[in-house]
Amino acid sequence: MSFPIHRPRRLRQTPALRRLVAETRLHPAELILPVFIREGLTEPAPLQSMPGIVQHTTDTLKRAAVEAAELGLGGIMLFGVPETRDAVGSASLDPEGVLNAAIRSVRAEVGDDLVVMSDVCLDEFTDHGHCGVLDAQGRVDNDATLEIYAQMAVAQAEAGAHVLGPSGMMDGQVAVIRQALDAAGQQDVSIVAYAAKYASAFYGPFREAVDSQLKGDRRTYQMDAANRREAILEVELDLEEGADMIMVKPAMSYLDILADVASMSPVPVAAYQISGEYAMIEAAAANGWIDRKASILESVLGIRRAGANLVLTYWAPEIAGWLREG
Ligand code: PBG
Repeated sequence: MSFPIHRPRRLRQTPALRRLVAETRLHPAELILPVFIREGLTEPAPLQSMPGIVQHTTDTLKRAAVEAAELGLGGIMLFGVPETRDAVGSASLDPEGVLNAAIRSVRAEVGDDLVVMSDVCLDEFTDHGHCGVLDAQGRVDNDATLEIYAQMAVAQAEAGAHVLGPSGMMDGQVAVIRQALDAAGQQDVSIVAYAAKYASAFYGPFREAVDSQLKGDRRTYQMDAANRREAILEVELDLEEGADMIMVKPAMSYLDILADVASMSPVPVAAYQISGEYAMIEAAAANGWIDRKASILESVLGIRRAGANLVLTYWAPEIAGWLREG
């Protein structure tokens, strides 16, 4: 009988040994907290499908941003929910509109201590819920949408965003936004491009969070879950167009995409652990079916291990608290 010479188990014997040889670690600085602010709220509004997450008022948003900075989080990503919507999402361009005003107040609160990011997309602002404007046949009009994104981007940069996140999956969106920012003297504002964003059933709870008016789906502009190679094309295009960082979204069902992208990207790679991923773990934990804390940490570690430098996660503050406790 011969025994194995290599015994990988040796390095697993104590917590200190496991810590020594851990290939991936979590740190608050690589976590980004997505937040929702809703116009006209006097109290924060809890989201039924995302237990523990709220739509913020201006005051509670400011507090969340200060807390995020104190916890040493990497950044905050702002989503706005307007009171009134129309076919072209006009409220997105209003300097006093919910999102632009929120960017301004968060920046006033945290200065440069926290990276302030904002969503450049029309779905929260349109009365039909699509990420762009529609043509006469009711299809999302790519190029007409780009013109609005360009203006939105400048408005958000002028409000004080450090990083803009175009999430609408219009072709050419990064190039148009980069040009508009540069022409407006905003050369230092960065773009995190939602490069490989898939049409996902796991966005469900987000639609409640932003009060989405969408009927139908986004399959004509977001990627098909069947496709892997195409993600590389999307990333290459966004890099050529000037993306400073790129994103893969969702995260957990797309770890192969994340690994592919991480292996070829010369710029930082972010992954978005989306609302449905949050909701699934919370729901299973609430039923006592899984260990909540261990599952959350494992899920984010897996996303980092697959190659994400940055993770957008609704658990960012809680994870940072746990990491601080050690
Ligand atoms: C679109 C947008 C979506 C999310 C972020 N930006 C929804 C969609 O594409 O339908 C989803 C985020 C999440 O589910 O947590 N502006």
